[in-house]
Amino acid sequence: MKLILLGAPGAGKGTQATKISERYGIVHISTGDIFRANLKNGTRIGLLAKSYMDRGELVPDEVTCDIVKDRLTWEDAAKGYLLDGFPRNLFQAEALDTFAEIDGVVNINIDQSLLLDRLCGRRVCRECGESYHVSMLGGATVCARCGGELYQRKDDNPETVASRLSVYNEQTAPLIDYYTKKGVILNFTSTEAPPEVLFEEIRETLDRRFR
Ligand code: AP5
Ligand code: MG
Ligand code: ZN
Repeated sequence: MKLILLGAPGAGKGTQATKISERYGIVHISTGDIFRANLKNGTRIGLLAKSYMDRGELVPDEVTCDIVKDRLTWEDAAKGYLLDGFPRNLFQAEALDTFAEIDGVVNINIDQSLLLDRLCGRRVCRECGESYHVSMLGGATVCARCGGELYQRKDDNPETVASRLSVYNEQTAPLIDYYTKKGVILNFTSTEAPPEVLFEEIRETLDRRFR
């Protein structure tokens, strides 16, 4: 199963990706996570990506497409994968068409008024990448899954979130139409219900379609 996860920043792509990849045994590939790992390791790509991520802008297409193209050749991607945060514009979508054949696009729609609170309240585990919202943590500062330290992403502040949202609306949202025309889109809506509720809907749809 080769899937794309599409949705605005904060729609819950990362949250659902963990559950989907566990359930279907496919590898979760997040370009945002790859850039953050590069930054942590001080690589050239990490430093380049940082300047764009801090402003909420897209890292240049050539760099991003090369990374994904290479990542899909790794052995763990042979059984299928879940792309989270790629493609993010038409150029990347057309590039992906040249090196992959996608079975489905899980598109998470969300009322954008919910996003600022979700993102500015997000805390992420440094070890396993799990996302939490401060309102659910009850003061905890470590990850419930692995005990890792929780931190706040540098781009989760009101100014950068505004810029990420406008990039999404201008460059990424048109991909909904692109994949609808290809007949592979699967539409969902994230509400204020807990993530497990949305995951149940996604699971039912994927089971029906691919099992
Ligand atoms: P990336 O890391 O992909 O960030 P993003 O797309 O902005 O999305 P997020 O990770 O912020 O949100 P999410 O949808 O994963 O939400 P989450 O599940 O965490 O990209 C970062 C940057 O990298 C980009 O700005 C760009 O610079 C660069 N980049 C990445 N890919 C690129 C590409 N292809 N090309 C060029 N540049 C690229 O959930 C958010 C919060 O909500 C959490 O606190 C969570 O606990 C909470 N939550 C989730 N679901 C629910 C729910 N149902 N109810 C209540 N709370 C919920
Ligand atoms: Mg994410
Ligand atoms: Zn953890």
